[in-house]
Amino acid sequence: MIIFKKTRDLHKWLEAQRLAGISIGFVPTMGALHTGHLSLIESSIKANPVTVCSIFVNPTQFNDPKDFEKYPITIEKDIELLANAGCDILFLPSVKEIYPDELSPSLKYDLGYLERILEGKFRPGHFQGVCMVVHRLLEIVMPDNFYLGQKDYQQCMVIKKLIALIGLSNAILVNICPTLREPDGLAMSSRNVRLNEDERIKATAIFRNLSFIKENLTTGDLKGLKETAFRNLSEAGFNVDYIEIADANDLSIIDDWDGQKKLVALAAAFMTEVRLIDNILLN
Ligand code: PAF
Repeated sequence: MIIFKKTRDLHKWLEAQRLAGISIGFVPTMGALHTGHLSLIESSIKANPVTVCSIFVNPTQFNDPKDFEKYPITIEKDIELLANAGCDILFLPSVKEIYPDELSPSLKYDLGYLERILEGKFRPGHFQGVCMVVHRLLEIVMPDNFYLGQKDYQQCMVIKKLIALIGLSNAILVNICPTLREPDGLAMSSRNVRLNEDERIKATAIFRNLSFIKENLTTGDLKGLKETAFRNLSEAGFNVDYIEIADANDLSIIDDWDGQKKLVALAAAFMTEVRLIDNILLN
């Protein structure tokens, strides 16, 4: 695996591949890699002769400075995992390399409704930061295939919107890969390592309550079902931001189901200081 730290060097190397007609797969990450990330790398390797992974803990997407400070960094282990997985290129830029001029958003991405609901509502500015870094990374890597995890359901929609906004929808194919889970159902996440033993056990309540929604879904009024799931999650020790049911295609919140629309249940909640998110498709 080749490690590039400089944008210019990576760009030059990739340009040569592109000229040779080689397709490039790209997996952006913030490091602290787990099996979920490696499954994205594996999908990319299967479909592209060249797979690029980036590790960059993006300061502009943390609305909570404490979350940024405590974000786990395991770079040596990450390098070993990527090399063993068969990743071709690791891009490991500095903050200056990604943001040579300034850190505050210079572009305002018009994400519309997506920025006002769920993660957008509870993490103001978060998606602008995600768009800033992904826009920059896409300019540098210009992949044919882009790999994202379904665990960040709303982020997948935001990034698809970004790609349309910057006019790259015809050039880049977004591949959304399934969420990987621990045997007890907890979605794999870099933040899980911050949970202590007791919190780790309690954390399974997120998946349990999303599954509870799936099992008890009926047409008509959904408010009671959401309220019960919210209460269960709070009683399990979570400080809940939301547990919601939304249209799987556009994330509009659904309170009354016609039995037809494709639905997704999504949750975000704090276990002490650690904020966890998860979602499952319902039908
Ligand atoms: O999902 C993540 O890890 C990050 O939001 C991403 C897409 C790498 C951008 O920093």
